[in-house]
Amino acid sequence: MTDNLKIYIETYGCQMNEYDSELVRSILSDKGHSLTNTEDDADVVLLNTCAIRENAHTKIYHRLQQLKSLKAKRKYSVTVGIIGCMAQNLRDELLDSHHEVDFIAGPDSYRELPRLIGDNRLGGEKGYALKLSRTETYSGVNPIRSGGVNAWVAVMRGCDNMCTFCVVPYTRGRERSRDAKGIVAEVESLAQAGCKQVTLLGQNVNSYRCQGYDFADLMRMTADVPGVERVRFTSPHPKDFPETLLEVISTHPHVCKHIHLPIQAGSDRLLELMRRTYDVESFKRLVTKMRRLIPGVAISTDIIVGFPTETDAEFGETYSVMEEVRFDFAFIFKYSERKGTYAARKLRDDVSASDKTERIVRLVDLQKRITGEINRQFVGQTLQVLVEERSKKEPGSLLGKTDTFKSTVFAGEGYQIGDLVEVAIERSRGGTLFGRAVGLSGGARRPARVAESIGSGAGETDTDT
Ligand code: 5AD
Ligand code: SF4
Repeated sequence: MTDNLKIYIETYGCQMNEYDSELVRSILSDKGHSLTNTEDDADVVLLNTCAIRENAHTKIYHRLQQLKSLKAKRKYSVTVGIIGCMAQNLRDELLDSHHEVDFIAGPDSYRELPRLIGDNRLGGEKGYALKLSRTETYSGVNPIRSGGVNAWVAVMRGCDNMCTFCVVPYTRGRERSRDAKGIVAEVESLAQAGCKQVTLLGQNVNSYRCQGYDFADLMRMTADVPGVERVRFTSPHPKDFPETLLEVISTHPHVCKHIHLPIQAGSDRLLELMRRTYDVESFKRLVTKMRRLIPGVAISTDIIVGFPTETDAEFGETYSVMEEVRFDFAFIFKYSERKGTYAARKLRDDVSASDKTERIVRLVDLQKRITGEINRQFVGQTLQVLVEERSKKEPGSLLGKTDTFKSTVFAGEGYQIGDLVEVAIERSRGGTLFGRAVGLSGGARRPARVAESIGSGAGETDTDT
């Protein structure tokens, strides 16, 4: 039997992967397969994988061990497919050394999945589909989502930046933009289904170009869609952040005032070695401009510590830049050598594990202090919070985010998921604000029905402070 199989998908890595899993669900259910939420009754288990750092690979190897046992227990009736970035990046190793893997498919080959699954069920060879495309944007595929308040919408695929540490250009191929009208239509149907917050995704959103529209146009068009309360985006690159986008963020009532702007390092020599194409001064000028044009904007960042040849003094420069810029929060990572990248081919991973650990700990401590200080300033203010879920740590309370992406917990009586609530902030602890609801935000409408299952929106990180 090769049709009407039960498919179980597990997703690792970033929001782009979450979105891709929704595409895969659609591609497979269009071919008559059904979806299941557990591996126990699945005919096919798909792991949608990440390759960004070694720990992403380690998780999958661990999971494959478990699936090996599952296959034996189920008398080899289960098909296991590895899809996504790790499949694209490791190819032969996964096929040759992992007998439990039946097929692999890269991020541009998901339309091949019905064939790969069918071939495997008919007892064929191990299959693979790894061609990277310059045009595939999965146009015509309608993602199958679990519903809820939040949705991710990919606006482009691939990356042409070639930062020397990064595997993404090798796993996701060249940059290409999705059709603008298709994106707006997708957001319209999300709004009709009760979605309140849309995050536009791309590896480098400001490269978006389609039918004469750029990314600022696209943000405005999606934020204009009736019913969408909030639009976010990730990620821009500091090298080409246009003033037109700052203008949209500052003026459009439905565009969130939060910008994730990865700096990666605070030393000009390292930034050059990373091929980031900006220097510390120009990054700081950009941040100053953002704060001038968008009062109250929250800015977060990504940092890599222990990039090859990073000295103590250069790490000190990163530390000083973080002290000076005062990001709202930061994702901080230890450098992890990735196969095929320029850094792996030309530079030696020469910062010791203990130095990387010491550096990450110092930055995390610094950022915790800064985040705490920034968040304390909100005590006494009333902020608008979009309710995303029930708090797991504080029973009876609801959890949501402010416009500036600050997690906020408040007593939930009378409010529900999807509401926009005015919350009087009473205290802050770490990265979280705590408060008391003072009413629904003016003009906010309740959706007819909103499912309660939503993703956390957090990517895989070493540390998020
Ligand atoms: N090692 C560590 N961190 C990395 N990132 C990307 N590649 C690597 C790597 N090889 C981080 C960057 C990027 C974030 C998504 O992941 O900080 O912005
Ligand atoms: Fe996402 Fe990058 Fe991981 Fe691929 S390698 S899943 S693009 S974070």
